[in-house]
Amino acid sequence: MNDNNIRVLFAGDLIGKAGRRTLKIFLDDLRKEHNIDLVIVNGENSASGHGITKSVYDEIIKTGADVVTAGNHVWDMKELAGYIDKLDKFVRPSNYPDEVPGKGYVTVEVKGQKITVLNLMGRVFMPLCDCPFQEFDRVYEEIKDSFIFVDFHAEATSEKYCLAHHLDGRAGAVVGTHTHVQTNDEQLLPQGTLFLCDAGMCGAVNSIIGMKPDRPLKKYLTGMPQRYEVQDKGDLFFNGIVFEFDQNRSITEFFKINVRTDAEK
Ligand SMILES: [Fe+2]
Ligand SMILES: [Fe+2]
Repeated sequence: MNDNNIRVLFAGDLIGKAGRRTLKIFLDDLRKEHNIDLVIVNGENSASGHGITKSVYDEIIKTGADVVTAGNHVWDMKELAGYIDKLDKFVRPSNYPDEVPGKGYVTVEVKGQKITVLNLMGRVFMPLCDCPFQEFDRVYEEIKDSFIFVDFHAEATSEKYCLAHHLDGRAGAVVGTHTHVQTNDEQLLPQGTLFLCDAGMCGAVNSIIGMKPDRPLKKYLTGMPQRYEVQDKGDLFFNGIVFEFDQNRSITEFFKINVRTDAEK
């Protein structure tokens, strides 16, 4: 490995306390094992499975994350809107109107290179938001002198693939989140952009996308709304991706991370 190259670890949605515990169990070892320079974590479900608070954000940063991204659950903890502007390494989806508090991207510097972490949200089977394609085109002029990492928080695989191809050659990496299920399609697109449709999640293995199985199951069986609870029992897994890029912002290596407490600890 070239010492000037930069290695990034991105972790999929942390699900509540179980997700935060997963980060604590694995992050230090992953950082050392893979010589990670920058850690990005999706925190949209990190507070009780719904949204994020300042104390949870602080805990994730203290555990070793450098930047925290979000998604459709960003406003679930309503108090966040009052202090989101003070969380300097927190990004919410950029494709909200200008008057919405918080920021859609943050630029950090590692080994003299600028890296911008941009959060975008899809519109298929998702809450109302502005067009993520046009939003990228709009902000690109502001961030094009950096390596651009995009956490594309979206449900539909087709939308994720379309956005990735739209960004090919402009973003350095486009990684999906939101489904909580890691996909097996990591690839370099024709113009060199790294793409993974979904990074997966960090939390309980025996769960329905991080939640105790009984409530979502009851919802399907009865059609009635249910209050979901984070699964906090059993084995945990850490899903994400590691990638490396060089001084020309070209991807030089990438591989998914899927480690579990039962297999590894
Ligand atoms: Fe999520
Ligand atoms: Fe989500």
